[in-house]
Amino acid sequence: HILHDQPAELYSTFRLKTRLATVIEVINLADLQQLDISSVPLVLGEGSNTIFLEQQNRPIIRFIGTTITEKWLDKDHCLLHVEAGHNWHQLVAATVAKQLWGIENLALIPGSVGAAPVQNIGAYGVELADVCAYVDFFNWKTNSVKRFNTQACKFGYRDSVFKNELAGKGIIVAVGLTLSKIAKPVLSYQGLDTLAATSSITDIYNQVIVTRNSKLPDYRKLANCGSFFKNPVISNDTFQQLKIKYPAIPGFKQSDGKVKVAAAWLIDQQGFKGFSRNDIGCYERQPLVIVNYGNGRAEDLLSLIGSIQNKVNLAYQIYLEPEVRLLDSHGQQYV
Ligand code: EPU
Repeated sequence: HILHDQPAELYSTFRLKTRLATVIEVINLADLQQLDISSVPLVLGEGSNTIFLEQQNRPIIRFIGTTITEKWLDKDHCLLHVEAGHNWHQLVAATVAKQLWGIENLALIPGSVGAAPVQNIGAYGVELADVCAYVDFFNWKTNSVKRFNTQACKFGYRDSVFKNELAGKGIIVAVGLTLSKIAKPVLSYQGLDTLAATSSITDIYNQVIVTRNSKLPDYRKLANCGSFFKNPVISNDTFQQLKIKYPAIPGFKQSDGKVKVAAAWLIDQQGFKGFSRNDIGCYERQPLVIVNYGNGRAEDLLSLIGSIQNKVNLAYQIYLEPEVRLLDSHGQQYV
């Protein structure tokens, strides 16, 4: 299924106005194998983490198959094989309805199942890596699918092999998730810590939805791509030095001893919360989320990104790296 000269607003939840020359939708492996790949295509899911700064002339490919296959490993554990085109939140809702534990904390994250491993989506103390058994990746060169087990996916904080070594080499066609009938509530994160340890999977799922809705804008009503920057991870020494000057700076110790600093706080302290110019701004309830009030332009977005990065860098000597995929006219990441 090939679509020509598409408005980019239909394919990115940030909705900058530009054009996409070609969008190819493939529904199964046979379709993929028959594709004539002359120039390296750009892979897109539901566009909830991708911003087209300029017109895209490279073909854009979307895998839209949505089949789910269920396989019970024993009486308590179930392996779900989910095709990449399935909507992530709908999958979460279906697993909660079946009382299958594992991804209830990841409710309401926009996007497709195929996009989930690329940046190892995470929220409220859980990330995809915790339940991901494998990822099936179709390679343009070999014209075949290779299965990557959890280790081979090289998951990190908002990171994976698919964003690095495998970037541009192919497309994710399915994801395998191991879920469990045995209750395993993760309630440590702010927002869920008021729930009882005996909470049901539905209680947790509902609470995640309430918490997200209270902080994050609905992209259908106000265009955005979620957290715009990654939370920077710095050495404990650097963090302790910053703490002397800024006693309130929030930091979360990581397993490797480093400290993850709340980017939202750094941006908030620099006065960007609720700031906007020419329809591009920082959301009033979560300044880490950059929003487009309707007619935002790429140049205004780049100007806001630059001001935030400069001010934060001047005050704390910390570089804020975009978490969102920002694509220039060549389909290359713009930082
Ligand atoms: N904060 C402020 N001012 C604000 C909001 C927050 O100073 O207006 C500070 C507070 O100290 C707060 C801290 O920032 O404790 C962290 O804020 P929050 O709990 O909202 O989480 P986050 O670190 O900003 C991350 C993920 C979100 C995810 C939430 C909940 C990243 C880049 N973002 O945000 O993921 O939903 O935790 O788990 O890791 C996304 O990736 O698109 C995303 C929305």
